[in-house]
Amino acid sequence: MMKTLVIGFGHVGQKLAEILFFEGDGSHGLASLNLTFTGIYTQSRGALLDTEGINVKQALLEIRKNGCFDKNNPQQTSIPLTQAIDELDYDLLIELSTLSIENKGEPAITYITKALERKKHVVTANKGPVAFTYGELSNLARKNNVQFRIESTVMDGAPVFNLAKQGLKGARVIGLSGILNSTTNYILSQMEKGKGFKEALNVAQSEGFAEADPHHDIDGWDSAAKIAALTNVLMQADITPDDIKREGISNITPEKITKALQSGKRWKLICRAWRDKNRVLASVMPEEISQQDLFAAIEGSGSCLRIETDLMNPIVIVQDSPTIKDTAYGVLNDILAVREIAGC
Ligand SMILES: NC(=O)c1ccc[n+]([C@@H]2O[C@H](COP(=O)([O-])OP(=O)(O)OC[C@H]3O[C@@H](n4cnc5c(N)ncnc54)[C@H](OP(=O)(O)O)[C@@H]3O)[C@@H](O)[C@H]2O)c1
Repeated sequence: MMKTLVIGFGHVGQKLAEILFFEGDGSHGLASLNLTFTGIYTQSRGALLDTEGINVKQALLEIRKNGCFDKNNPQQTSIPLTQAIDELDYDLLIELSTLSIENKGEPAITYITKALERKKHVVTANKGPVAFTYGELSNLARKNNVQFRIESTVMDGAPVFNLAKQGLKGARVIGLSGILNSTTNYILSQMEKGKGFKEALNVAQSEGFAEADPHHDIDGWDSAAKIAALTNVLMQADITPDDIKREGISNITPEKITKALQSGKRWKLICRAWRDKNRVLASVMPEEISQQDLFAAIEGSGSCLRIETDLMNPIVIVQDSPTIKDTAYGVLNDILAVREIAGC
């Protein structure tokens, strides 16, 4: 039995619960996972705790019907989250709280550190801790012989970290580039079709792929966090989103979009990372690229990553129209990897 403590029960947490507890006995090979949620914590919608396992179907029903857990739910708890992380009996922390740029990845970094210190495995979809302090967290996990897995922090469920780590052994990553933010790519694509900025943003928010705070997406912070996470993990860098030269898309006007299209180009928000002597540098900037460029083919909420190494020609990973299910799948993939490697 794998006992899990879940932080965050928003889009991703609820979709993960749906896959695990509604589809688990279907054709997804999850029946043998034998996993329970022993705690589910949110910031403002209540918290549930039961060492024997939470009634997840009931929890999902309540949060979808009332927007919060029922006050009379017998599994409601007033035990603070930090105490639960420190004292509860669990094997794996699933950290799905909101990205916090302003607080430099906190409080998620503290939650993850506490769990790793207790020799608990951690899976997170939150890019903040990876963008701000990957080196320390991964060292702590290694020292305590536990897993710290992060696949869905960048490009949702697409296996970017696993592909590079497993499939590019011995090769040195010398450069990365890509379109990593769905919301801005969606807005730029919609503006090319004559839609307004705000109208396109509203759709991205209602579909759940825009960050809770849209300025993270529009001003390039989400992209900066993702390219920081990628460089820290794949290029062994030690940078944070604050170190990255960054510009968002708010200066891309309908006139600029039209002019670019007329000259055979498209505006895209491009992330780049490269080695400069002993340093790794990174940027997030809107670029006018040729319509023949591979990146110009990335439509709507799609994303892509180009990986350059010293031993292979570049590889490009493209993700087409991801949904919340892709992110939840990335988390599930990490959970299955924990079970496989750690045997719990
Ligand atoms: N959505 C995507 O497509 C996607 C893709 C890749 C990665 N991610 C990442 O995955 C994470 C979850 O995304 P999401 O879309 O599920 O976000 P969300 O819908 O905003 O849900 C976030 C959840 O975290 C809870 N939370 C926030 N701060 C907390 C705190 N300090 N302590 C305890 N709980 C806290 C929230 O509580 P309340 O319910 O009370 O607000 C909510 O339940 C984020 O870090 C996001 O960047 C998301």
